[in-house]
Amino acid sequence: MTSSNKTILATCLLAALASTAGAAPATGERLKDWPHVTSAIGPDAALEARVQEIVAQMTLAQKVGQMTQPEIKMITPDQVRQYYIGSVLNGGGSWPGMDKHATVAQWLQLADAYRAASLATDARTPIPVIWGTDAVHGHNNVYRVTLFPHNIGLGAAGDAALIERIGRATAHAVRATGIDWVFAPTLAVAHDPRWGRTYESYSSDPHVVREFAQAYVKGAQGRFGDDGNVVATAKHYIGDGATDSGRDQGEALVDKATMINVHGQGYYGALGEGVQTVMASFNSWNDRSGGVDYGKMHGNKALLTGALKEKMGFDGFVVSDWNGIAQVPGCRNDSCAQAINAGIDMVMVPDDWKAFIANTIAQVESGEIPMARIDDAVTRILRVKLRAGLFDHKPSDSRHAGDVAAVQHRELARQAVRESLVLLKNEAKVLPLRRDARVMVVGKSADNLSDQSGGWSLTWQGTENRNADFPTADSVLGALRAELGAQKVAYSADATALDPAQFDVVVAVIGETPYAETNGDILASDPVSHSRAYPQDLAVLRAAQASGKPVVTVYFSGRPMYTNDLLNHSQAFVAAWLPGTEGKGITDVLVAGKDGKPAHDFRGRLSFPWPGVPCPAPIDRPDPKQPPLFALGHGLSYRTPGKVDRLPEANPDNCGEVTTLPIFNRADTPPFALHVAAAGATQPLGNDLNATLRWPAAAPVVQVRTVQINTQQDAKEVTWLAPAQLIARSSSRRNLGALARNHGALQFDVQLVQRPVSPVKVTMQCGTGCEGGVDIAPVLATLSPGQKQTVTVPLACFAKQGVDLGAVEAPFVVSADKPFAAAFTQVRVSVDADNAAGGVRCP
Ligand code: BGC
Ligand code: BGC
Repeated sequence: MTSSNKTILATCLLAALASTAGAAPATGERLKDWPHVTSAIGPDAALEARVQEIVAQMTLAQKVGQMTQPEIKMITPDQVRQYYIGSVLNGGGSWPGMDKHATVAQWLQLADAYRAASLATDARTPIPVIWGTDAVHGHNNVYRVTLFPHNIGLGAAGDAALIERIGRATAHAVRATGIDWVFAPTLAVAHDPRWGRTYESYSSDPHVVREFAQAYVKGAQGRFGDDGNVVATAKHYIGDGATDSGRDQGEALVDKATMINVHGQGYYGALGEGVQTVMASFNSWNDRSGGVDYGKMHGNKALLTGALKEKMGFDGFVVSDWNGIAQVPGCRNDSCAQAINAGIDMVMVPDDWKAFIANTIAQVESGEIPMARIDDAVTRILRVKLRAGLFDHKPSDSRHAGDVAAVQHRELARQAVRESLVLLKNEAKVLPLRRDARVMVVGKSADNLSDQSGGWSLTWQGTENRNADFPTADSVLGALRAELGAQKVAYSADATALDPAQFDVVVAVIGETPYAETNGDILASDPVSHSRAYPQDLAVLRAAQASGKPVVTVYFSGRPMYTNDLLNHSQAFVAAWLPGTEGKGITDVLVAGKDGKPAHDFRGRLSFPWPGVPCPAPIDRPDPKQPPLFALGHGLSYRTPGKVDRLPEANPDNCGEVTTLPIFNRADTPPFALHVAAAGATQPLGNDLNATLRWPAAAPVVQVRTVQINTQQDAKEVTWLAPAQLIARSSSRRNLGALARNHGALQFDVQLVQRPVSPVKVTMQCGTGCEGGVDIAPVLATLSPGQKQTVTVPLACFAKQGVDLGAVEAPFVVSADKPFAAAFTQVRVSVDADNAAGGVRCP
């Protein structure tokens, strides 16, 4: 262990001991079972009596309505009144009137309307609705807001007091829009950077997560002492960061001791500080060594009720995740007695809430869900609403309306950015940049506020944004120009448009492009290598290095990645994570002060180990033969420089055995991208999940929208209006030979909307004039509308139909004519699948 590393651990230990004494088990204590955690918000007899009084007056419909949380796109204020709805949420990229630029006044107006409606019911005691939102790095769905660094950057900053202040500032911004509940903080202890949500995790060190959990809840929720507080959520309970190969919504394979002592830590911090809600996790847990397969968390009574409510003593309420109940065996989006019986108190049922209410009422009436369970759930919800003062204030009472883009929030975020930067390399003192330096800025992310902000930024995925969508933000390019003078800073994204002779130094800003949740997963068989996913970033560093000027790389990423090649092409390298709107926090540290000395030193330290190989072992099961390149806690500074020698480089195509070639799963899987095509023209579908594409605009031949087949918005529903094609293609050719030898087959999930009356051909294309495949209309004819099926077409069948499997450009082409509509997802080539059920007979 390095000495800085030791200091960090020691500091965390001390801080955690000091701040949670008495509330939760001491940090470092090895727990054998789920501990009791004493909440900072204790029981209050008068409040409990009030809750009992209200519950006693409620009808079953009122109780079930109270437990239901629809999405704002799917419910009007008047329906909130009519169905006695207890809560609404806005999902990522959902805004009042579906206007991305909705003003604070418009948010407040909608919040007031929902609340007024909830109080206008015919109930004896009408209950105010509570609105929840994903304010995960600032109030990130709102236009003009200050975006703080994502949690991974805050983990690197390592400053609990800062996190508390960010929690408070975020709460103020949220209250400014009339919202009383945030779905934050995420307490995942991520152990594999393949996970697309790694950036939502503070650290792979559970004690850091615990300390920051407490700090965030303290800042955001306070103890409901003033009108700037919101209800906080500890999520996702439990083991979201523990899944095998970092698969989102996957299966945690850890033992019970690990679940309790590692993945539980954040909850001890949050519960001790009095967090009022816990969100169930999409993942499942299989404790193989203990011989217990707990299954999906949403249906897990032992954990939701036994561990959380009974053993830990949590008296707030548990909310389910987005359609999470449907993943419990035997359940659907609109029906899941198992989840409620397991201990879910409020159900996030974005779309199908009406049917959910009807089904749940019927399940109570039939005795499938005991009334006592319903009463307990409603009691918990009312307890939280009363504690949070929801009966006493209306949304527009907020005194924080000015806080959405407040100057003090920007200052705070800028400080957080400064503190989060981790210096990994600085040869020949290229940093800090002299104030008189002429700087050539290159790289696709230098003036790109989407790359700088990551997922959960105005939109869910953080895609479909332009710089103009962040009017108060500074990109790195903008910040450098402001700091050094625009005439000394020139920009060329690919480094070709400028003459290096005119400059003293190159600043390259590169990084991952935004993603959220599953869409950010890196497959187990794919390298965790930046240049493999973004070859253009390596190319720009090569071009920069060829200029002969020193290269300073600023690297945006949601996780530690294999970057040996990028480091070798840089004299200085700064891991900047996903810093958000305040680019000036970066130049604060990069540029020297007026006296030529550093104005601010680097303070960030890695809160995750940084891999030195493209196929790293998971963090919690390190491979001693392949230690991390930079350990947890590592970080250079101006005061403590260090030398980084030339690093070995390797860029394999895959990590171990290839099992599946993914083509489309919820989103395009590079190098393939879905297009629609007709008469020689093509159009990419893009990644705006809320858009309906009618193409071509003048005379549409096809309409495409995003729907759900298996999980959230995972499928594309295509309606043929004339002859047209749906195509997944790439610009390079792919050799499917090895897959074919392993009994490979093209597979996809299809859900029928409208039956075809003419052939529906599924083909592969392999260059001009090279195409072949099968008609799947006979398979579709066996389905009724709404029914789904996995279709399997053996690769051997394509070969027989004339496809050159050594050079496939488009592995999935659906050609059809009207009338026909169906949704497609999970398009892949799988091995050992040519005999699978749902197989298509080869002509
Ligand atoms: C995510 C949660 C989020 C919820 C509501 C889910 O898909 O897992 O973290 O709070 O959606 O947007
Ligand atoms: C996200 C929501 C988002 C939705 C889109 C969920 O997983 O949490 O915020 O709007 O997916 O399907």
